Amino acid sequence: MEAIWYLLAYGLGSISFAVIVSHHFHKTDIRTLGSFNPGATNTYNTLGKKAGLMVLLGDLLKGSIALLLPLYFQADVNLLYVGAFAVIGHCFPVWWGFRGGKAVATTAGVLLVYNPLLALFTYLGATLVVLLTKYVFMGSISIGIILFFYSLLLGEYELFFGIFIILLLFLHRSNIRNFKNGLEPRITKNKK
Ligand code: G3P
Repeated sequence: MEAIWYLLAYGLGSISFAVIVSHHFHKTDIRTLGSFNPGATNTYNTLGKKAGLMVLLGDLLKGSIALLLPLYFQADVNLLYVGAFAVIGHCFPVWWGFRGGKAVATTAGVLLVYNPLLALFTYLGATLVVLLTKYVFMGSISIGIILFFYSLLLGEYELFFGIFIILLLFLHRSNIRNFKNGLEPRITKNKK
């Protein structure tokens, strides 16, 4: 019976707000613009602040809702694993040909419900990395590293967060390649 919560989390996670917002408000497909990534960063960079913020909120909320539902119904599930299904749905959505985002906003939504303090600490750390390096993808990857160190301190979920780092590296492979070739854009102020 618990399987339903994992499936529901995957389904929720796989709703791509970047695809929806770009289609609905800009009559375009975010997967054909900028970095081609259906995520908040690419939407912000290519379609502007308002669209970027909508995608950020949508992708964050679906991660939170995936955990709030089993919590509300007092389901006997591991919330971290439920969150993982939401993140996997976001990254590999069945409805959009498994071409999804890079896990950052949805992971934030999951963590905010799972452990708000951990969410705050992790994303403050990632923001600091972005401000110091001026590269969003470095901040994104650091989320996995911070969570992995947290699991080491905790003495559990080391393998889980180790795999999460590998997933983040895989999802950011084009950013890493661009960075090596000097093509990865640094953060700039968006005037749109
Ligand atoms: O949050 C995703 C970010 O790490 C990279 O996004 O669009 O620059 O590839 P993008």
